[in-house]
Amino acid sequence: MGAKILDGKLLAGQLKQQLQGAIEDLRNINRIVSVVSITVGSNTSSSSYLKSQKKIAQELGIQYQELNFSDAIRQGDFLNQIQQINQDHKVHGVIINKPLPNFIDYSVLVNHLDPIKDIEGLGERNLGRLLLGKSSLVPCTAAATLALLKSSDVILKGKEAVIIGRSEIVGKPVALLLLKQDMTVTICHSKTENLEEHIHRADIVVAAVGRKRFVQGAWIKPGAIVVDVGINEENGKIVGDVDFDSCQEKASFISPVPGGVGPVTAVMLMRNALEALKRSL
Ligand SMILES: NC(=O)c1ccc[n+]([C@@H]2O[C@H](COP(=O)([O-])OP(=O)(O)OC[C@H]3O[C@@H](n4cnc5c(N)ncnc54)[C@H](OP(=O)(O)O)[C@@H]3O)[C@@H](O)[C@H]2O)c1
Repeated sequence: MGAKILDGKLLAGQLKQQLQGAIEDLRNINRIVSVVSITVGSNTSSSSYLKSQKKIAQELGIQYQELNFSDAIRQGDFLNQIQQINQDHKVHGVIINKPLPNFIDYSVLVNHLDPIKDIEGLGERNLGRLLLGKSSLVPCTAAATLALLKSSDVILKGKEAVIIGRSEIVGKPVALLLLKQDMTVTICHSKTENLEEHIHRADIVVAAVGRKRFVQGAWIKPGAIVVDVGINEENGKIVGDVDFDSCQEKASFISPVPGGVGPVTAVMLMRNALEALKRSL
């Protein structure tokens, strides 16, 4: 029997409904959640992340403004723009979209951002608070991964999780969130020896590798839950980091790509924007 699907679209719809009420309550007291999404250069309109940001903001009644800078912008000017946004009380959340020109240092930008407006949760202050187990704006993809896992209704406490990938944006924050759920967490990466053995031990596998169809069904323990964070392009289509067909035969639950982590991530971004407004009050 095949795995049950962890349906990201369904979960995103449910989460949106929960957010809608809170956003309306704030609107009734003249507080409108407002987000600025910064892009650089002219070739950004096709980004699916950008498209989903706009769509969800619109659906939720969140004010959304795209700020597009020339690809000749210098880092100093970029920092000045961020400073201005930091001081603008009408803006609650800021997204700094990639790609950026290679002479711009993303980490400098994101750490210049007021941590309360860092709705992607990728600045040192928010990541540090996450590490310490304190309340923070949690990186959206990691939050989406946990939300999808919880939607299975399987008890996570005490389970063995293996995360493939150790990036600051996905792998490490996912590990911290799962640890907070009292799971036993292993992070694997490109230098990990006997990767398949690690994966075979796991009750929960999170794939954030950036390699299409990397995780094979033969590596999966029967009944494991598999969350595929991957977004890879193949002939104009999006495919994940998991070989869906072989893995779904072994897993109890599996998230598809597209339609898994992606739709939930965009909602988590807007949930952070709402949280940012609340914290600013
Ligand atoms: N759904 C979403 O919302 C969302 C958001 C962000 C990213 N993504 C997708 O998630 C995936 C991961 O993104 P990322 O930003 O974390 O990527 P990344 O920064 O490139 O990190 C990839 C990780 O995978 C590890 N890795 C690479 N090859 C490996 C191998 N053969 N065996 C074991 N580990 C290996 C790397 O190890 P080293 O550290 O040793 O190099 C690294 O830690 C990508 O497909 C990306 O497009 C999705």
